[in-house]
Amino acid sequence: MKVLIANWKMAPQTSKQALALASATAAIGKKYKKSIQLIACVPYLYLQTLIQKNKTLCFGAQNVSSHTAIASTGEVGASLLKGVGTTYCIVGHSEVRSQGDTNELIREKINILLSNSISPIICIGERERDERGWYLSTIKDQVESAFAGISKQLLKKSIIAYEPVWAIGSEALREATPAECREMVLFIRKLLTDMYDEKIAHSVTILYGGSVTEQNAALFVTEGAADGLLVGRMSLEPKRFITIAGRIAS
Ligand code: PGA
Repeated sequence: MKVLIANWKMAPQTSKQALALASATAAIGKKYKKSIQLIACVPYLYLQTLIQKNKTLCFGAQNVSSHTAIASTGEVGASLLKGVGTTYCIVGHSEVRSQGDTNELIREKINILLSNSISPIICIGERERDERGWYLSTIKDQVESAFAGISKQLLKKSIIAYEPVWAIGSEALREATPAECREMVLFIRKLLTDMYDEKIAHSVTILYGGSVTEQNAALFVTEGAADGLLVGRMSLEPKRFITIAGRIAS
């Protein structure tokens, strides 16, 4: 079973468009339900309605507050997400890290989500690749910090998305290669083996994300050793997203 995550980011613009996109996405999930677990991570505003109207699709948020007190004006905490039936939530996306989320804050968010029975989708990735391999220590810090103090049972509920920052979005420097993806998937499993054990490390879902297209989708899963994909822009285009799903359905 592969995992395919749609990250709608700050789109679409209206709830009518969101409803249409959700039903197109749900149809893709239905078509490939035997081989793909599809999760749509949508803006907070649309979560409740979409969850109520689409019983077959799993929905996630794209961030969560680290605050738990009611006196947190403007924040959306895990208990609110849980209250409307959210089952997944992205944390540590590079677009959120760049606004100040540190490894420590991300760990707090992961803990809060897990204690509300929401599975965290933890994004990790280096901002740049240097020839001396320092980027590996960035990944090591992110992984070790994210899972510090997390039990094996809770680790199993988490999804990791390796998203090299330089390969994400319309400003991407270039696409990552399947070989680069494979290196990092193996490296993350090695880190998890050191923290837990080999069996658990191999059971954790590790996805690839960053400029995924119809052309490269299959390669990240076959040669790149990823368990699935986290897709941004292309998940807003159902005709292209269904092709991506078809490429990784086995
Ligand atoms: P992209 O975004 O697929 O548009 O590069 C991926 C992401 O930000 O998660």
